[in-house]
Amino acid sequence: MSAAADVKLQDFKSIFSLDGKVAVVTGGSRGLGLHAASGLLQAGCAKVFITSRKAAACDEACAALNALGCPGTAIAVPADQARSADIARLVAEVEKHTDHVDILLANAGATWGAPFDSHPEEAFAKVMDLNVKSVFVCTQKFAPLLRKNATLSSPSRIVITASIAGLGVGSLGPHATFGYSASKAAALHLARNLAVELGPEHILTTAIAPGFFPTKMASGLMEMTGGVEELAATTPNKRLGQAEDIAGTVVYLCSRAGGHVNGGYVVLDGGALNGRSRL
Ligand SMILES: NC(=O)c1ccc[n+]([C@@H]2O[C@H](COP(=O)([O-])OP(=O)(O)OC[C@H]3O[C@@H](n4cnc5c(N)ncnc54)[C@H](OP(=O)(O)O)[C@@H]3O)[C@@H](O)[C@H]2O)c1
Repeated sequence: MSAAADVKLQDFKSIFSLDGKVAVVTGGSRGLGLHAASGLLQAGCAKVFITSRKAAACDEACAALNALGCPGTAIAVPADQARSADIARLVAEVEKHTDHVDILLANAGATWGAPFDSHPEEAFAKVMDLNVKSVFVCTQKFAPLLRKNATLSSPSRIVITASIAGLGVGSLGPHATFGYSASKAAALHLARNLAVELGPEHILTTAIAPGFFPTKMASGLMEMTGGVEELAATTPNKRLGQAEDIAGTVVYLCSRAGGHVNGGYVVLDGGALNGRSRL
């Protein structure tokens, strides 16, 4: 190996840098999406679009993100991911601020807990629609912007928030999450399919499979299945997910450091999934 190649290999100072990148975070107004957006901005993103249904929540999230004092800017664009027309409007709104997108974090999701016998068909359908179909529609509608600056050396990224409920079995019994668990397994598989379809166009797709993080969505189920302290105590690393766990993972997957991950997923659960299956 030549000395010149050696020097290049050691250029790791910027390996997690997202300097100048443009990102869109669905479900970015709170919870995992907001933590991820904070990581993206602090890693150098020039623009981070925050989208969720409620305009006030998007504005509040952007105010908090912009108060971090990063060089980049958070921009609120409310939209309902459950409605394809709204996703198209979101893309059009984003296009008013940028001619390309480097990173799409498809994170918005919903869940429903009910026993097997009375598990509502409508709830199952709604969860599958938002967690799977809308993720596909969102990637499809953002693809032209994701293609714009995508190159072999600087590929664009799609990151899908799935769940360990899509790897193991989700919650069962009185708070069973049949639709949610199936939807997250589908989300992981959708990531694999997108990776193979879009990889040759220099758009890499990955997924994240979180265990419990105390957020608005998870808090009800966490209370019903033992509570925060009990769940932390039964997790192999003795804690639940934290903001920096999701922020760091998203930054890694979107940066040069994650440049050869395509179709794979990161399990962010402190070992909870493996801990469940001991003999
Ligand atoms: N927390 C956990 O333990 C955990 C574990 C595994 C996976 N996950 C996944 O992580 C993702 C984020 O969940 P979270 O725990 O951070 O929940 P959260 O705190 O309740 O946040 C959900 C976000 O999604 C937005 N949202 C919901 N429905 C939407 C829709 N139809 N269109 C656009 N935005 C929508 C919400 O804002 P609006 O209400 O304003 O729309 C909010 O910004 C989900 O995909 C979830 O399945 C979470």
